This record gives sequence, C-alpha cells and structure tokens, in this order.
Amino acid sequence: MLCLGIETSCDETALALVCDGKVLAETLASQIELHSIFGGVVPELASREHLRFISLLFDELLKKAHINMQDIDLVAVARGPGLLGSLLVGGAFAKSLALGLDIPVLGVNHLHAHLLACGIEHHLEYPALGLVVSGGHTYLFKISSPAAFMPIGRSIDDACGEAFDKTGNLLGFAYPSGKFIDQFAQQGQNGRFKLPLPYIDNENLDFSFSGLKTAAANLIIASGLQDAINQKALQKDIADFCHAFNECAAETLVIKTKRALQKFEDIAAIWLAGGVAANSLVRARLQELAQNSNKEFIAPAPKYCTDNAAMIAYAGWLLGQEGYYNNLDFEIVPRGKKIPEDVLKTSLSD
Ligand code: KG4
Ligand code: ZN
Repeated sequence: MLCLGIETSCDETALALVCDGKVLAETLASQIELHSIFGGVVPELASREHLRFISLLFDELLKKAHINMQDIDLVAVARGPGLLGSLLVGGAFAKSLALGLDIPVLGVNHLHAHLLACGIEHHLEYPALGLVVSGGHTYLFKISSPAAFMPIGRSIDDACGEAFDKTGNLLGFAYPSGKFIDQFAQQGQNGRFKLPLPYIDNENLDFSFSGLKTAAANLIIASGLQDAINQKALQKDIADFCHAFNECAAETLVIKTKRALQKFEDIAAIWLAGGVAANSLVRARLQELAQNSNKEFIAPAPKYCTDNAAMIAYAGWLLGQEGYYNNLDFEIVPRGKKIPEDVLKTSLSD
C-alpha cells in the first residue's frame, strides 16, 4: 500500500510517501525564517505559505519517488490539533486529491502520528506509554494499538517546547530555540543556577510548564542574561543557565513518566516523540528510566521528532492497512477542540 502523508498543522509544509512501511520520498518547505522575525508562529502567514507551496511540493514529491499520482492508494492528512487555517490547507488538498483519484482519505491525529513515527525505524511494542513533547503539546498516552490511544496526562497550561522557546527568546536565541538551549547546555556546568521542578507535588500525570517559564524569566533578568547571547563574557553563564533548564525539563518529564509506569503495570515500552524528543538530555534520561524499569525505549531519529510528513504517511499506512478511512466531509480540528471519533473501517476483503 502506497500512502501519501500531508502535514500542515503549524509552520512546516511537508509531504511524504510511505510504501509498505518504508519512507519512499519526502518534501518540505520550512517557514522557520519567516516566523523567527516575530519570535513565534504567525497563524495567518503560516496558512498563506502552506497554500503557496503545497502543490509545488506535491509535484516535486512525485518526481523524487518516480511515481504517478495514480499510484497512490491512500491520502493521510494531519487533521489536528494545530492552527485552523494551516490545517485547512492540507485538509482541502488531501480531500481534493482523494476525490479526484477516487481513493480513500484519512484524517490523522497529529499527536498520535508523532508517536507512531517511532515505528519508522523500530519495531513497535504494545502496550506502550507514549510521551509527546512538542512546541504546542505535552501529552502522556497509554497506547494499545495504532488506533487505540488513551490520554492519561497532559499539560494544563504551556507545552514543554513553548517553555524552551520563550526562555530561549529571552536569552536572545532565534526561534525555535529549544535546540540552541540543548547545545549550550552541553557546555554548561551543573548546580550554578537552580530552577524549581514544576508541578510535581501532586499525585497526577499532568504537567505545567508556565511556572518554569516564569521562574526562568525571573532568573534570566536577575542574572543579567537577558539578550546576552552576543556578549562574549556571558557565554559561560548562558551555558550554565541552559544546563539548569535542560535538567529541570528532563527531570520533570521523567518524574511523571515514572509515575505513569507505576500506575499502568502492563506497559512493554516507552515511546518518546515530538520536537523536544530531539533534546539530548530528555532522550538520555527517558532511555535510562526505561532501562531501569525493564521496558523497551523507542524514539524516532531526530529528523522525525520535529514536525514532518513521514510520520503522517506512516501513521496513515499503519491505519490504512487495518482498513481505516474517513468520509470526505470529516472536519479539521484546531487546538483545544476534541477530535471526533468518526473514523470508519472497511472489512479488508471489501
Ligand atoms: O513537534 P514540533 O516540531 O512542533 C510542534 O508540533 O509543536 O516541536 C517543535 C518544538 C519547539 O518548541 C522546539 O524548540 C523544540 O521542539 N525542540 C527542542 C529541540 N529541538 C526542537 N527542544 C529542546 N531540545 C531540542 N534539541
Ligand atoms: Zn508536532
């Protein structure tokens, strides 16, 4: 089965083809430079850029894979959560293509796709504990199959990646600054700066990162590190600060994941995904937790951690193989709204 995946939920226009579980080709137009001028994604600009690039990227994808569009068996598209205008561009493109080619279309949950990307290069073990940590979301799921995701914890305010980006912005890093904090942290020294572990003195599996964002901002201002990135004399201080921030984020994620492992005893594997899963310390700490708990640890390669279309095509392929599809009138779902359980299933002999 050849599945086209379309990802336009935020600021990357991305398309990919997955054939029998293998990524055949990928195309991508990143808007990072455009939005970095504003220090974050500007939704109206994002949707216009998706519209400008999506057809061009589709043509390029077919050329790269040496296929005709008639060879595609299924179109999978990220239906949410994300920015409404951006999602609508990918959704309309996917539905038009499915209608024109008379093939099924499938609306894929962007967060589930982040986690299913673990299967691109690894065997997926179930039941799994899935931790998605991205710029827009922090979620814990119990996953029993590609189609069965049970949310068990989530951020009650900011996403972990947002705390990275806003903190990095204050230090003077370009958007999105998670990877710069991570790079500086590796040169930093432990213990010089202290940040409180946010929202851990409770019994639940939820996260809160807005307090960390505020604590980090206060510490940056008090230490004279605001916009300090170009000041040579302060590079060591920035590295030590980033070290503390990385430690705090990683430790918080580990505490809640460990708690989830205690609550759900039948878990076989920990899956880690989303942009922040590219963070070296977050990866290492969660891998350590899995090892100490006798669980498999699976995380996608860093290029499949941040938003990409291979994860949508791969999730589409996994679900499509089991006969899942949507009616052409399925809705696009912006952030904050529940994705309806309207997926349909054919019997595979149909
Ligand atoms: O999954 P993603 O591409 O987009 C969303 O769905 O939100 O995640 C982007 C987020 C940004 O907040 C970015 O700063 C963060 O992932 N990120 C990192 C690293 N690489 C990307 N955060 C920490 N360390 C990294 N190495
Ligand atoms: Zn994402």
